[in-house]
Amino acid sequence: MDLKKLLVINGPNLNMLGKREPHIYGERTYQDLCEFIEDYCREKDIYVEIFQSNHEGDIVDVIQKAYGRFQGIILNPAAYTHSSIAILDALQAVGLPTVEVHLSDILQREDFRQISYIRDYCLKSVIGLGFDGYIEAIDFLLEYDIENNSI
Ligand code: DQA
Repeated sequence: MDLKKLLVINGPNLNMLGKREPHIYGERTYQDLCEFIEDYCREKDIYVEIFQSNHEGDIVDVIQKAYGRFQGIILNPAAYTHSSIAILDALQAVGLPTVEVHLSDILQREDFRQISYIRDYCLKSVIGLGFDGYIEAIDFLLEYDIENNSI
């Protein structure tokens, strides 16, 4: 089965892209990011929904509701990466193929950013590639054998 329906979830403060620490996250806005992802998905014939929230529980709700509706998730939990067991539990509960994305290279930043609670669950982590990280994640899910859960 091919990837036809993709859910992209972005966590807190990513709506501030463009204004937020441009030396780390770049000058392009959140709207630019959404258009970038949507354009690529259109090209690849993938239906995509993009969700952003500053609230952990809302992200948990959206992951739960993805069950049976989407075939893959691309998730940038932002700061919740480093703190949220609830988001990890939600991913484990729905069991959908998921790729973790971070715009910045969290491995080269502060110690507290080295921990990712979701990393072990995710099939792949793409870090430090800016917007292109989302494209790499989409390409990975396109190659991934969703039905048999293997590459
Ligand atoms: C981020 C990295 C996180 O450490 C940070 O809290 C973010 C964004 C990234 O995309 O580089 O908000 O997930």
